[in-house]
Parts: sequence; C-alpha cells; structure tokens
Amino acid sequence: MDGQLLLVLLLLLLGASGPWGQGPGPEGPSEEPLKEEFPEEKVTEEENGILVLSRRTLARALQEHPALLVEFYAPWCGPCKVLAPEYSKAAALLAAELATARLAKVDGHAEPELTEEFSVTEYPTLKFFRDGDRLHPEEYTGPREAEGIAEWLRRRVGSSATRLENEEGARALIDAQDVVVIGFFQDLQDEDAAAFLALAQDALDMTFGLTDQPELFQKFGLTKDTVVLFKKFDEGRADFPVDEELGLDQGDLSRFLLTHSMHLVTEFNSQTSPKIFAAKIPNHLLLFINQTLAPHQELLAGFGEAAPPFRGQVLFVVVDVGADNDHVLRYFGLGAEEAPTLRFIDMDTTKKYAPAAGELVTAAAITAFCHAVLSGQVKHYHLSQEVPPDWDQRPLKTLVGKNFEQVAFDETKNVFIKFYAPWCPHCKEMAPAWEALAEKYKDHEDIVIAELDATANELEAFAVHSFPTLKYFPAGPGRKVIDYKSTRDLETFSKFLDSGGQLPAEEPTEEPVAPFPETPANSTTGPKEEL
Ligand SMILES: *[C@@H]1O[C@H](CO)[C@@H](O)[C@H](O)[C@H]1NC(C)=O
Ligand SMILES: *[C@@H]1O[C@H](CO)[C@@H](O)[C@H](O)[C@H]1NC(C)=O
Repeated sequence: MDGQLLLVLLLLLLGASGPWGQGPGPEGPSEEPLKEEFPEEKVTEEENGILVLSRRTLARALQEHPALLVEFYAPWCGPCKVLAPEYSKAAALLAAELATARLAKVDGHAEPELTEEFSVTEYPTLKFFRDGDRLHPEEYTGPREAEGIAEWLRRRVGSSATRLENEEGARALIDAQDVVVIGFFQDLQDEDAAAFLALAQDALDMTFGLTDQPELFQKFGLTKDTVVLFKKFDEGRADFPVDEELGLDQGDLSRFLLTHSMHLVTEFNSQTSPKIFAAKIPNHLLLFINQTLAPHQELLAGFGEAAPPFRGQVLFVVVDVGADNDHVLRYFGLGAEEAPTLRFIDMDTTKKYAPAAGELVTAAAITAFCHAVLSGQVKHYHLSQEVPPDWDQRPLKTLVGKNFEQVAFDETKNVFIKFYAPWCPHCKEMAPAWEALAEKYKDHEDIVIAELDATANELEAFAVHSFPTLKYFPAGPGRKVIDYKSTRDLETFSKFLDSGGQLPAEEPTEEPVAPFPETPANSTTGPKEEL
C-alpha cells in the first residue's frame, strides 16, 4: 500500500473528510469558513499563539497547516514549563513572517492515543509535520529557545540557503556575517546540492548561500563544485572541494565547517566553551595567562603564530586565570600563580601533558611541544594533590595520587577506599557510614579505611568513572582489586570486611552518578522527563 493511500485510509478512520492539498488554511480559528461543515474537528483552542490539539482536531490541523510543529507535553513536566514561554515567543516571531508555519501542542497525558501513535516516550517531544503527512513527521532536534526554534522552522519552510545570482548578491551575503558558507554547484538539482541544503537546515548558527552561476565560479576562482567558508578573520577563506567520485559527505563537511569557523586561537569563556567542545577537534592546547599582565599578553603573538599548521588537529585555547575559570585550572591541577604555562589534552583519552618545567612560551617551543606530544614522546601526567601532613592521623585516612599506590597495594594491609567527588550527593549521603566504619576498625592493624577525591587525583592503576566508587584491595601479592557494589551502610560494609571482601548476596544499590557535573552545553537537546 503506498503512503498516500494509507494516509487517506487513516484519515477516514479518524473521521477527517476534508479534501487534500487544500493549501494553507486561514490563520485564526474565528475566520474559518468551513466551520459549519466540521464542527467537532476544528481547532478552537489557542493559548499564547499555540494551537491546542487533541485526537479530534489533529487531522484537521494537519490539513490546514502545511508546516506544523507539535509539542507533546505533560502538565507536570518541568522542562515543558521552561520551554513554554520560548515556544510562544517563537510562534509570535513566525506569525509575523511565515503564514504557513504554525506551532501546536498536545497534552500527552490527556491524549494517550496520540502519544502511542507517535511513539512519544518522553516530554517534551516535538515533531514537525509537513504537507499534512501524518505518517512521517520529522523529529525536532533544534534548540529550545525562541529564535532557535523559529530559525529551525524557517530553514525548513523556506530554503536553508540564499540563492545567489550575481557577485553583488554574493558580496552582500559575505559582508553580512563573520562566517558565511556558500555552496558552488554546477547542478543545483543534484545530490551534492541536496546534501548541502540538508546540512544547512540544522547548522543554525551559520549563514548559507548557494549558487550555480558560472560568473560566480569564476569570480571566486573555482572550476569545480566546492563549498567555501568565508570569514572575517584568520585565513579569510577555506575551501571544501566536493569529491567528484564519492560525492559530498555531510559528516566531512560538517567537521570542516566547525573546524574552520573557529578562530585559530579561541579565548575560553562561557560563550565560546560550547563551540570549543562541539568542534570535536581531537586535541586542545591551552595557554594559561593572567590577562592583566602585559608580559603575559605578549605571549599571545607566539601562540597565534604556532597555531596554523595544527588547524583541525590541535585547537589553541587561551584561558585567563583572572577570569572565572577556576574549574579549568582545577581540572588541569594548576594554580593561578603557575601562569603563564601550557597544557595539552587529548580529548578522546583525556590524557594531559605538560611542557618541561621552565620551558618558554615561544612559537618555536609551542610547535616543538605539540609535535612531541603528537608523536608520543611526552609522557602524560596524573593529577595529584599534595599528601596532607596529617593524612594518617585520623581513623579515616586521606589518600591522594601521590600516596595511593603505596597505601592501596601494601601487601600487609586490607585497604578499603572510597573514591568520591566533593559535589556528589550520593558521596555525601554515605560519608557518615564511612566515618563510622573507619572508627569501628581503627584498632585492626591490618585494615585501612581511606578516601580519595578522584576529581583532584588521577591514578595510574585505573580511571574512576563514577562517584562514589568503592574498591577493596586485599592484603597479599598480585595487586588484587575487588569492586564493592552493594548497599552503602555500616552493617553491610562490616560484613564485607569481616568476610575478607565477600558478601553473601548482592543487594541492588542506586546507580552512581556520572563523573562530571556538567557536560559541555549541548544546543540541540535539553533536559527531558520520562513519560
Ligand atoms: C547533543 O546530545 C545528543 C543526545 O545526547 C547527542 O546525540 C549529540 O551528539 C549532542 N550534540 C553535541 C553538539 O554535543
Ligand atoms: C593577575 O595579575 C594581577 C596583577 O598582578 C593580580 O593582582 C591578580 O591577582 C592576578 N590574578 C590571578 C588570578 O592571579
């Protein structure tokens, strides 16, 4: 059965009887001329410019609005409440410019038939229906703020790239923004042009143009299909030639645009950090300086000079130790007084590298350092706090990276260690039980109860991926490690210790939380709530 027929049948089943391809309907419910004919199906409810749909009105709304974005929400859902004002603002923006696009919402709790039909499993879920096609909505993956939502729709209802006919038009587009991407395609109907336009639909923070004009190919020195990124900084322009045999690969183009739209040297702050992480450049080189000091500022020239050959492979980032960047310093185990200094990080492994002590921050030294790290000649370092002078003075011992090996793998001791993060709620919850355990076993010569802040101390032996992590290191040779995954209370801990690292039966426990409190901002998704 073809889609069209299925659609008609479905609509018949649902009681919709209006003709197809009727085109855009009138905007306001009160102006609807067919009101008499379809009394029970007409959308009559509207809240802040958003159509309120139900199973009875959805079919009719799809028919009347060729571009319909529908939010499935639940009355109790927090993220839905956050979205609501932005969603209304987006509706107002679009009402002024795009007569064919409408925003709507469905209370998923009140309309279980619809949540089932559209496989809605979390709130809010947004789906975009085009030309009344109820069977193939597009999942909304755009931003959750008004301008972003409006732009996402604009790029679907209209074209995602401005069609350029002459040099004047091209220059005007290029001049309008810091970064402008133009696709030069000899045939605008071919697959490469289609792939380009599809990418432009989602790359909302860049402006796109498109042309097939021979005059423009010539003006910009091109003979073949090419995507050109024009920028008002650094190299000014970067070309992405379309592979004549393999065609345009969207993933490759997307990485190319992210890489080349970044400045060669990016200053780290709350605006740039999402881009720094989204660019997915495999390595970052960070220069830590105090921007208020002239000698530090002078180092920027050499840093910028070293950057070009590493574009795409190493992202050069400047971190001002005087700005609100303490979390970055902590992550690298640095103090502000250590500036100026460099740190290199491999983003896949999160291995960190430091230049030799006393190394000057010159272009030549930076280049040499990058080459040395990339060719595996530099050993990565592990974070460690200094061993506190009183680390073994209390029943609960304090471990850091520097004394971990010696204590945990002591062959004469059974060592039970809590790896925690200072901000982790489950860690705080279990802290009294852990203190009590240390107190209870303080007179056992062969038992050590300890804790280690795993956000400030990295271990050679293993990486800690969640908090809290509890591990038992039994006495004896062979560096044995037993993971403790049971209930976190004094009684169960004691049983475990008394039986030398075993428990009668595994009891379920709550999931530990992820190792990092925040992930880099993700503009395409927001928090969701389970259905
Ligand atoms: C945003 O999050 C989604 C879902 O977790 C993920 O698939 C996507 O790659 C993320 N995007 C970025 C830019 O990190
Ligand atoms: C940066 O330098 C200024 C001037 O010497 C100094 O007052 C300030 O404390 C420094 N900032 C940091 C975070 O070290």
